[in-house]
Amino acid sequence: MEKPRAVLFDAYGTLFDVYSVGLLAEQLYPGHGTALTTLWRDKQIEYTRLVTTSNHGAHYRPFWELTRAALVYAIRRVAKDDRAALEPATLAARADQLMNQYRHLSAFPENREVLQALKDRGIVTGILSNGDPAMLGISVRSAGLEDVLDHVISVDPVRKYKTDPAAYALGPQATGLKAAQILFVSSNSWDALAATWYGYPTLWVNRGGLPFEELGTQPTRTGTSLRDVLTFF
Ligand code: LAC
Repeated sequence: MEKPRAVLFDAYGTLFDVYSVGLLAEQLYPGHGTALTTLWRDKQIEYTRLVTTSNHGAHYRPFWELTRAALVYAIRRVAKDDRAALEPATLAARADQLMNQYRHLSAFPENREVLQALKDRGIVTGILSNGDPAMLGISVRSAGLEDVLDHVISVDPVRKYKTDPAAYALGPQATGLKAAQILFVSSNSWDALAATWYGYPTLWVNRGGLPFEELGTQPTRTGTSLRDVLTFF
């Protein structure tokens, strides 16, 4: 395999820790924090697929809106027997609090050092994410990563979420490189799988020691932290 000329990272779960909202979730819904954040994340991804595959994209909504809709659903599920929590003003206020936290997710600690090491080697770097441009911009700025990312690519202009090929095609379009020359990095196994299918060499960052998807294709490499990106160079 030739050395990649660029590295594109998934954002949520890969550069930004989506479970870092868990502490607040547990404070607001004691005993349900983990269930809430897990359900929220799963529902968020399910909604991206629903709007991408139904009715030729007629129901597309930006990732921020789908994320809030998924959160409201998850709250209604975990607090289904708690009338006070479901009272509309209470639910909306708590959803606002959690969304605000989501806007400023913690970045994984090794990110900056790895991105800087890539820049030092002259490698093009970027994000390729379902996130809409506004939310990605805020997350990148709050994590202090603007100066080590050449591209912040949102699927929003094509109104199709990963794993649609139109979303993955944005990487080669933005960099002017072939997919085979771009390393795609994701902590989400479904994303690493679909990016491999699309034609990228891939690194699956398996921080949680999880099994990979059971659909017959493996990522090019599997690692345990973003640092494993550097094994490609
Ligand atoms: C993203 C989601 C899938 O950043 O994590 O694209």
